[in-house]
Amino acid sequence: MFTTLLPRPTTDSIPDDLFAAIEQLKKELNAIVLAHYYQDSDIQDIADYLGDSLGLAQQAATTNADVIVFAGVHFMAETAKILNPDKLVLLPDLEAGCSLADSCPPEAFAAFKAQYPDHIVVSYINCSAEIKAMSDIICTSSNAVKIVNQIPAEQPIIFAPDRNLGRYVMEQTGRDLVLWQGSCIVHETFSEKKLIELKIEHPKAEIIAHPECEPPVLRHADYIGSTTALLHYSQKSAADTFIVVTEPGIVHQMQKAAPNKRFIPAPGTNNCACNECPHMRLNTLEKLYLAMKNRQPEITMAEEIRVAALKPIQRMLEMSI
Ligand code: 13P
Ligand code: SF4
Repeated sequence: MFTTLLPRPTTDSIPDDLFAAIEQLKKELNAIVLAHYYQDSDIQDIADYLGDSLGLAQQAATTNADVIVFAGVHFMAETAKILNPDKLVLLPDLEAGCSLADSCPPEAFAAFKAQYPDHIVVSYINCSAEIKAMSDIICTSSNAVKIVNQIPAEQPIIFAPDRNLGRYVMEQTGRDLVLWQGSCIVHETFSEKKLIELKIEHPKAEIIAHPECEPPVLRHADYIGSTTALLHYSQKSAADTFIVVTEPGIVHQMQKAAPNKRFIPAPGTNNCACNECPHMRLNTLEKLYLAMKNRQPEITMAEEIRVAALKPIQRMLEMSI
């Protein structure tokens, strides 16, 4: 019997010291690595800037780098490209999407919007460039309340795509928003029952939660905020134990900033790793290195969409000062 010897697929060689190789590529490319708190710890450690969605957009708007390496998900890298059409924007894994962004398809949203012709659209940044292009103002979890509060009271508003953040903004502002019914697979996985059990085990712990969580979970929270807000709160609070109800990647920074405090990630419904964002976690240090070495995968988009999506992002940046 003959065995056909097929050529072995070529693989890019990975250096032993990935940290040093990435630092070298940063210099060669004049690149900046922007990372979200939900990335693996090693990616967080090599980032030039680490932050929440607003901080990352603000950095992308002001950087002098020629290349932006975005260690986050597609809508974040896309936002960086919208702000920087002439820069090379790399995403280590192009498959790193977002269930929340996917829950708002452009055609269905256009039809929804058409039902409310007198409404303006405030969209959470966790959406595609096409949805941004149909929006009047973008917001993030750290400025959504502030932005809605700046819109005249008589102006009706559609809020998309996250129904949970939308509900939270309604409670905080007293406004009646028309909500698109999207949600995040990570934040809807936390169970109220497991949270109560954990609180009984750790009665002195403070529960800190992201507003993308469902209302039955949020009602137990001592503090609700964006990832950056949760990080800051955990540093300044007098409590020494926290139950963290968001993607557990943030715990790396919480623990670094307050080594003597204890951070307990809230479990998903089935004690699975489903409280980790499967999209965010597609990025690895190896893929980040290869993206820089090969100058791809690159974020691109139609110029017409980019120009239309830029306006509501710029409004957000102006309204966040
Ligand atoms: P923030 O970065 O605004 O905290 O939002 C978290 C998130 O889900 C990002 O996808
Ligand atoms: Fe999207 Fe949720 Fe993952 Fe954030 S945590 S990127 S909202 S799926």
